[in-house]
Amino acid sequence: QRSLLGVKDLSAEEIESILDRAQHWESSGKKIHNAVPDAIVANMFFENSTRTRFSFEMAAKRLGAQVLNFSAAVSSVNKGESIYDTVRTLESIGIDAGIIRLKPIGVLPEIASRVSVPLINAGDGNNEHPTQALLDLYTMRKHFGSLRGLRVAIIGDILHSRVARSNLWALRKFGAEVCFCAPPNLEAPELDAPYVTMDEALGADVIMMLRVQLERHESGMIKSAEDYREHYGLTVERAARIKGHAIIMHPAPVNRGVEIDDELVEHPQSRIFQQMANGVPIRMAVIERALRG
Ligand code: CP
Repeated sequence: QRSLLGVKDLSAEEIESILDRAQHWESSGKKIHNAVPDAIVANMFFENSTRTRFSFEMAAKRLGAQVLNFSAAVSSVNKGESIYDTVRTLESIGIDAGIIRLKPIGVLPEIASRVSVPLINAGDGNNEHPTQALLDLYTMRKHFGSLRGLRVAIIGDILHSRVARSNLWALRKFGAEVCFCAPPNLEAPELDAPYVTMDEALGADVIMMLRVQLERHESGMIKSAEDYREHYGLTVERAARIKGHAIIMHPAPVNRGVEIDDELVEHPQSRIFQQMANGVPIRMAVIERALRG
């Protein structure tokens, strides 16, 4: 299987081999390699992105692949063309792999079953964001050496978070303990993970803050930014209580002063910008896997 539609169906061994390959690419430096010289991959983002889209492009270019950047806003999607017909069109034109982000859930496996090029999920609705979870695991493994027994608290807008889901499913495969902390109306009851208080969450090894995804909210889901920060934000006062060896993570983009205080984004215990940097070798490993098996 060369497509990567989610982490849920990957084994711990498969995930580990992607992390190890990413380590290889990270240690080989900021060069343009000749790993997949004749390959052309398409970035197909039907939802907005900065990090994922550009780190996939950077990763493909570092591997020696060419990149086609599809932008939904100036495409025939605006004439009513479906996501499937768009992917099928790019396949007909000759791409070797497609990286795809889209809003609806359940569409991606259906499309992947109807095309022959491998597809990489760059985020589908609130279902999965597999490369984000892989880079998060890579960041944790780099800091702690191992994921086994790690206590990871994922805090915030769990309901709308594909990052929370992919991290939960991936971390569990390695024997990490995952707990959630969220306002009751932003919990995801279908996910099998314990909910803890904010004070309990601060005792974890990894404090993973989530963005409040206002663009997916119905009105009134949070009272105000100030109220959210007071009850569920990682404030400077709360950060002073986390363990000395703990790390602060956030998939970004960050609502500074809402789910995390401005001063904490580049705090010595924060790994937020390292997470973004780690996205490149992870995506190199994932693109290489898609193209070369
Ligand atoms: N973390 C993440 O997916 O960021 P983007 O939406 O900018 O890609």
